Amino acid sequence: MVEISTSILSVKKGEENKTIFALEAAKTDYFHIDVMDGQFVEKNTYDKMFEYSSYIKRISNLPLDVHLMVEDVKKAIDDFLAVEPNIITFHLEACKDKQEVYELIKYIKENNCKVGLAIKPNTKIEDIYEFLPYIHMCLVMTVEPGKGGQTLIPATIKKIKQLKKYIEENNIEIDIEADGGINLATVDDVKGAGANILVAGTAILMAKDYKVIIDELKKE
Ligand code: DX5
Ligand code: ZN
Repeated sequence: MVEISTSILSVKKGEENKTIFALEAAKTDYFHIDVMDGQFVEKNTYDKMFEYSSYIKRISNLPLDVHLMVEDVKKAIDDFLAVEPNIITFHLEACKDKQEVYELIKYIKENNCKVGLAIKPNTKIEDIYEFLPYIHMCLVMTVEPGKGGQTLIPATIKKIKQLKKYIEENNIEIDIEADGGINLATVDDVKGAGANILVAGTAILMAKDYKVIIDELKKE
């Protein structure tokens, strides 16, 4: 059964409390926290996402799935460790070299947090193979990072398939998270390709009944 990580990026102003309570009641598996610094991507959601995460921490036991779309990864790790996330995922493309990737992986794990590595649509899947034995999750962006409500890029489905094949052939235990443009029209392709954690923001937040859409997305 796949798990659903609901992105709270597009939560309506003033409806944060109601939405978070409703998502918990609808049994989302994670809250997906999209941290953007206005440099790695155009938007800046840094303070808002910290505020939302702190609030969720106070009212819910559901795990936080933090997705860092930032240039200064180390600073963001230090800041968001404060909300005790289940996992912190950073972008391969934000690192200057492989050594920095290994150092950040080690640093997150030393702080008792699971670690994920994210890649943008144009980054080759082979570029993360060497890091897979050391991380818990690979986040395959199925849209360009930076905003919600975009259309899934079909070419990214092939990358998920390739990754799934590689981890099976090499007996690597790792979660594959797909992120962006996931809805009832695209979910079957994403699941079929091998993703086992699906991020959805717009598809869930615009639904009348969160539980119905979450159950639909999870359906085998
Ligand atoms: C985009 C974010 C995604 C996005 C998902 O940069 O990483 O998590 O918010 O939202 P939807 O489901 O609307 O594409
Ligand atoms: Zn995300």
